[in-house]
Amino acid sequence: MEKTEKDLPNLSGLSLLIVDDDPAIVRSLKRVLTGLGADVTGVSSIREARLSLAELLPDAVLADLQLKDGTGLDLLPDYLSQNPDGGFYMITGHGSVGNAVEALRQGARDYFEKPVDPLLLAKRLVTDFTGKQSVRRSSDLLSPYLTFCDPVMNEALMDVVRFASSQEPVLIQGETGTGKELVARALHGLGPRAEAPFVAVNCGAIPETMLEAELFGYEKGAFTGASRQHKGRFEQAHEGTLFLDEIGEMPPSAQVSLLRVLEEGMIHRIGSERGIPIDVRVVAATHRPLEERVEDGLFRQDLLYRLNVLLVQLPPLRERPRDIALLAQHFLANSLRDVGWEGSAPTITSEALTLLENYSWPGNVRELRNIMARLAVRLPEGLQEIKPNLLSPLLTTKNNNVTSCNGGVFIPKDTTLADAEWLLIDNALKESGYNRSKAAKLLGIGERTLRRKLNES
Ligand SMILES: Nc1ncnc2c1ncn2[C@@H]1O[C@H](COP(=O)(O)OP(=O)(O)OP(=O)(O)O)[C@@H](O)[C@H]1O
Ligand SMILES: [Mg+2]
Repeated sequence: MEKTEKDLPNLSGLSLLIVDDDPAIVRSLKRVLTGLGADVTGVSSIREARLSLAELLPDAVLADLQLKDGTGLDLLPDYLSQNPDGGFYMITGHGSVGNAVEALRQGARDYFEKPVDPLLLAKRLVTDFTGKQSVRRSSDLLSPYLTFCDPVMNEALMDVVRFASSQEPVLIQGETGTGKELVARALHGLGPRAEAPFVAVNCGAIPETMLEAELFGYEKGAFTGASRQHKGRFEQAHEGTLFLDEIGEMPPSAQVSLLRVLEEGMIHRIGSERGIPIDVRVVAATHRPLEERVEDGLFRQDLLYRLNVLLVQLPPLRERPRDIALLAQHFLANSLRDVGWEGSAPTITSEALTLLENYSWPGNVRELRNIMARLAVRLPEGLQEIKPNLLSPLLTTKNNNVTSCNGGVFIPKDTTLADAEWLLIDNALKESGYNRSKAAKLLGIGERTLRRKLNES
């Protein structure tokens, strides 16, 4: 008995997705491979497989060629782009060797003819995966920082783990709300400086006259009001990472000083001639392409070259539809937890997901998170499905962009009474940080009335 167990392939720690529309095949493979220690999920269609791939990131996929909504080969490019170290194996029927060869050409590791011998498969998996499980995939390493599954985002983030161990500056470009700060935190947290401080400076938010004092510090008496010595952000970030957010907004004089610091590895506090060596890794972010700022004469080309050694370009949310579905579920579950929802989160129907996928997301992931927070506070208790009618009022331009106007609420000419009420409620929710009782106070109504109105709309 003992001997037999030793001879059997050991698949513990290996996650495997089987895609086959014949339930008998899935059942029998699952039984044997689970018995050998693998964590096996079985699905019967391409659609289900795509969802499972995003959720599970399995080490290996075993897919049938003929499925009711496509061929197993359709999954291969996405899977390998998400998981370049993964193993993709085809199941083929009699006489479909041509297709199997095509699969190999596209990157599949092997193919197995039906009926698949589970032990043969298990041995092949052991050969392919022994010793590799300890190599954590880059998407696993990034998952504490960012939630994503779309191949477009995978590609954009492909280099982040590698960049994390480098000491060169990184420039992160992407529209507002695409996750630039999260990437900066990942670069810090996954690198050798993780234990040292991460210091963020928003170059667009600090008055021009204060920025250099803020970055480089000053000596007592350096200028009127400098009543004592002050260490700047560079010194505060010693041995760690300095995140220069909205670098494109940096005024020209500070750009000159920053370039000098990057070249010399030293700062000078304002009011002092003494150079202080600094050991800081610089990560910069911008929501508009710096090349454009250079062309407009607002950003120094030499500083751009110095900062742009390693570039991470984050795609807007509208260009990564699979992330929309994943993030919507993720934020909805989080927001429901925040409002004390009991039981499991309602599922977002596929029609509702299509609605989300077709929206333009000018505010990117931040906007999606806010919309899910707004949705969560207005969900009737016990609801099981989110249908498009619950989402569409939150997605119109009217509700997203025009509600606030000079600190008040802008109500367009043709607004109905019901819509106007919703605009006021929506604004009160935003103003109160989505706190229902505060929003009710702002509106001059009781919380129960607000709850009822939210449930009605
Ligand atoms: N991939 C992601 N997974 C989870 N949360 C995300 C993701 N991307 C963005 N977010 C969330 O969206 C919000 C905006 O992200 P972040 O601040 O990193 O964006 P940004 O690109 O720096 O935006 P801005 O240009 O406006 O400063 C944050 O609440 C962040 O947690
Ligand atoms: Mg930011």
